[in-house]
Amino acid sequence: MSSDKVKIDVSETAGMLKFRYEHSGAALVPLLFEVQRRDGCVTEKAELDVAELLGVSPRLVHEAVTFYPLLFQRPVGKYLIQFCHNISCSLVGAEPLIKILEEELGVGPGEVTEDGLFSYRRAECLGCCADAPVMLVGERLYTRLTEDKVRRVIAEFRDGRVPEDGAPLTETAEIDNPALSLNFKVPNAANIKVAESRGAYKALRKVLTEMTPEQITEDVKRAGLRGMGGAGFPAGVKWSFVPKDPSLTRYLCVNCDESEPGTCKDREIMRRDPHRLIEGTVIAARAFGASVAYVYIRREFYEPRDIFKRALDEAYAAGYLGRDILGSGLNLDIHLHPGAGAYICGEETGLIESIEGKKGWPRIRPPFPALKGLFRQPTVVNNVETLSNIPYIILNGVDAYRQRGTEKSPGTKLFCISGHVRRPGVYELPMGTGLREMIYGVAGGIREGHTLKAVIPGGSSVPVLTSDEIDIAMDFESTQAAGTMLGSGGVIVMDDTVSMPLALEILSRFYAHESCGQCTPCREGTSWIYRILQRMNRGLGRKGDIELLLDLANSMDGTTICPLGAAAAWPVQAMLKKFPDEFERLCH
Ligand SMILES: Cc1cc2nc3c(=O)[nH]c(=O)nc-3n(C[C@H](O)[C@H](O)[C@H](O)COP(=O)(O)O)c2cc1C
Ligand code: SF4
Repeated sequence: MSSDKVKIDVSETAGMLKFRYEHSGAALVPLLFEVQRRDGCVTEKAELDVAELLGVSPRLVHEAVTFYPLLFQRPVGKYLIQFCHNISCSLVGAEPLIKILEEELGVGPGEVTEDGLFSYRRAECLGCCADAPVMLVGERLYTRLTEDKVRRVIAEFRDGRVPEDGAPLTETAEIDNPALSLNFKVPNAANIKVAESRGAYKALRKVLTEMTPEQITEDVKRAGLRGMGGAGFPAGVKWSFVPKDPSLTRYLCVNCDESEPGTCKDREIMRRDPHRLIEGTVIAARAFGASVAYVYIRREFYEPRDIFKRALDEAYAAGYLGRDILGSGLNLDIHLHPGAGAYICGEETGLIESIEGKKGWPRIRPPFPALKGLFRQPTVVNNVETLSNIPYIILNGVDAYRQRGTEKSPGTKLFCISGHVRRPGVYELPMGTGLREMIYGVAGGIREGHTLKAVIPGGSSVPVLTSDEIDIAMDFESTQAAGTMLGSGGVIVMDDTVSMPLALEILSRFYAHESCGQCTPCREGTSWIYRILQRMNRGLGRKGDIELLLDLANSMDGTTICPLGAAAAWPVQAMLKKFPDEFERLCH
């Protein structure tokens, strides 16, 4: 961990956490992190202590410690370095930089340097794809790495300094009538005074004084706001599934797990415009009667988490959160709940299990979260970007929102463009913007001297497109008609230097690493696909490997508890179909 051993009285912390949460299970992972900060790892003895302090079973504690990649049973160096080697970082040179890092440290992954200062691990996507290549040193993020920068950062840490990143903010575009990126370029927009001067919390005042909960839901339905976490389910419709029974506690879970490779948009909202998300969360809670919200943020988002935490404190102090919000009688608490490094905790029921302190195993549905979700109470899970659209809709009206985008995919969307483009970034664009325009216009085209080979248009899970297939509109319907998906808006651009079998190996490694192991087709399929691709890429491909890969992928598609199985299969099916020669060449 990044900090020196800290003085933490675990029993005192346990008491505080139990007080904060209404269920002690929710305090489990936060408490384990405190133990890890104190001791550098979580020993078996510490597991038993934590179980006793929280009154939960030791089995539950052990499951959490062994499930979450960011909890450790063995000590790590004072600074844990996490170097991303997933697709967007690999495209722009992560592997040679990892070699330089190893050379600088003199250790391999999982080892601790002799002075105890550093240990390092390869990370499966840190959610900063538009700023690739990236690494975390303790809690500090370093982006757009070069050989010189890696060496400088390590040297400065060795000298006892904490180096600045020094890279400019993630690139964004300015469009007319933005719903999301309105404050992205405004200095200090995370500060409540600045945010208020730009209109923050006006929509909240409006719903509290002029609108019934039913009217809010109706407006969001008429606006046609779609879920931006990947599935595109209409937000207002989802809220209307929640039972109105006043005896039930209703929960809103805000999904900021953002672990799909190629996706890095929610992070920008959290760090540049957190009050927009807080306001959207309060309005959504008002619409379906939630009294508690959990913002589940991936642990690796240290800087966005700190910014968001400050914004939460400001919102409480200003009376926008807590008891009797702005004198309206509305109550809402928001808990900021960091995850522990598992992609599957972005899946809505995995996320719910994780908040409850369990390993993030997705649940079998039905029952759906709207009826039995967090702590078995009615729950809505919404993505950060979805909720951040709501203030704009309420304040400017349904027609203004629908002016952008298409009939069925209205409004704007944040697109994360990474890979081999000249201007990678997170851009707010109208739904339905052409993919060609995004790559060659907004992102400045392919890097010098190269041509486009392929694009993954919606995050690592969605089927790849060839360079001949980019004349499509980027909205939910058009991408589906083109045999792919809009997904989470992660546009990963690959030029003519990319080997498709190698790219697929990287993607498959990710799914093999992240499968929770609950379903046989996904657990076995993801790891076999990865192993076969590894073998092929090392010159040991065999006749029949392509059929085997397809057979495994087909057996995972639609046969599992959660969509991760299918999400791991789609890239395999699409790459084999669209680039068959490159795979056939490897099978002798
Ligand atoms: C494996 C997996 C990972 C996911 N990760 C995320 C994520 O990081 N963020 C997110 O908002 N949705 C993620 N989702 C989708 C969520 O399950 C859920 O549909 C979404 O949070 C609902 O919010 P929305 O309706 O506002 O889009 C993931 C789904 C799967 C299957
Ligand atoms: S599909 Fe994979 S990740 Fe999802 S529940 Fe099954 S094993 Fe777990």
